[in-house]
Amino acid sequence: MPAMVMSNAGPGGAKKFEGRITIYVVICGIIAATGGLMFGYDIGISGGVTSMDDFLEEFFPVVYERKHKAKEDNYCKFDNQNLQLFTSSLYLAALVASFIASKICTKHGRRLTMQAASVFFLVGVILNAAAVNIAMLIIGRILLGVGVGFANQAVPLFLSEIAPVHIRGALNILFQLDVTIGIFVANIVNYLVSNIHPWGWRLALGLAGVPAIMLCLGSMVIAETPTSLIEREMLMEGLAMLKKIRGTDNVDAEYEEILHACEMARQVKQPFKNLMKRSSRPQLVIAIVMQVFQQFTGINAIMFYAPVLFQTIGFKNDASLLSAVITGIVNVLSTVVSVILVDKVGRRFLLLEACGQMLITQVAIGGILLVNLKATNDLGHGVAVWVVVLVCLFVSSFAWSWGPLGWLIPSETFPLATRTAGYAFAVSSNMLFTFVIAQAFLSMMCHLRAGIFFFFGAWIVVMGLFVIFLLPETKNVPIDEMTEKVWK
Ligand code: BGC
Repeated sequence: MPAMVMSNAGPGGAKKFEGRITIYVVICGIIAATGGLMFGYDIGISGGVTSMDDFLEEFFPVVYERKHKAKEDNYCKFDNQNLQLFTSSLYLAALVASFIASKICTKHGRRLTMQAASVFFLVGVILNAAAVNIAMLIIGRILLGVGVGFANQAVPLFLSEIAPVHIRGALNILFQLDVTIGIFVANIVNYLVSNIHPWGWRLALGLAGVPAIMLCLGSMVIAETPTSLIEREMLMEGLAMLKKIRGTDNVDAEYEEILHACEMARQVKQPFKNLMKRSSRPQLVIAIVMQVFQQFTGINAIMFYAPVLFQTIGFKNDASLLSAVITGIVNVLSTVVSVILVDKVGRRFLLLEACGQMLITQVAIGGILLVNLKATNDLGHGVAVWVVVLVCLFVSSFAWSWGPLGWLIPSETFPLATRTAGYAFAVSSNMLFTFVIAQAFLSMMCHLRAGIFFFFGAWIVVMGLFVIFLLPETKNVPIDEMTEKVWK
């Protein structure tokens, strides 16, 4: 049933687009979002694998020995630069790759960028699963990183461009939902394979190939976005595709608007230079800062290292992996809350509520560890369970706020002419600071000890002040009126 949809975007102010949510759009969306699964699976799997004895014994014997020495300091037993490089090398590669991907996206389309992502990712998976030395591991991780950089640039753009305007927000958060599902599945896989000796870790790393194959095959079936076709001057193909994904021939208004947007964007010869102009500064700062703050919540200390963290406080292997499964499911379910609430209560409310909840939980975890966890003891079972509960409360507040909004706000804040370039800055800032946390967390925990949680708590205070004083509400502001209504 065709639905008349209001769009206030476009040169002539308010306009009506005709179109419905076609099965084709839904299928394209689901397939493209598997890019999020690749990203999420990777986030979840590395922490599990780096806590598995077979893996440590083969590649990081020093860490293996330290882990099993009764006297080794609780906070330091996993502190090893090479071990951290295994996790973090992926994000450095993704950081560089996202800028290259933004150019390929513009020149050759979103679909080809997604295909390339899946191929890089698959080769990385094969190298990792078959690794016999650290070089194979690291090179594999770098290729996975290129895959992630390409996918994270192309997928959210693709989703926004194919979505009918009235479900654009929900479709955007679909990407984050897939990220959380990927993390959750990885946590289950970690748990299941940890007792398969000595090659369980190979299976865990190899299964990353599943979402990559899904994206590879899927991206052969799905459409290119009309915007990308029109941008590359394939006007007839763009028009035909627009009719197909909207399920109607009456797409003139939307077609005109895309043409106009492409025209305006074409006049901006150097979008990256344009971004540096004073008028673009607030949006650019917000896109970057949202991602930096997202990482300084400390979320990835938990996502990457939950099993390691839970072992630190005294859980045995299985119990710690199982606890990571629990935080994984909390993460998925709380993201669904965000899908439902984000357009009702607004972005600022979710971000501020989460700052309060995250601050309380971080300080509580830090306090408990400070009092109870010394260098060589275990937390008592009851206390350790409390830590898991607090971690769940922390994860849930992140999952309905800074998680999805870290991606959503940068994607809705730029005018079209600088949108892809601006978004590349958001993606690469995410990767840079994910790298920083992945590389530094275990060393920081060794040096700051329980204080690491107060460190993140202090950042959360800064984030709250930023939202209160500097972040405008973007709920219900049409994307192409953002400059007019918010920034002027
Ligand atoms: C972040 C990741 C994080 C994940 C957790 C994403 O939005 O970018 O760094 O691990 O959320 O669900």
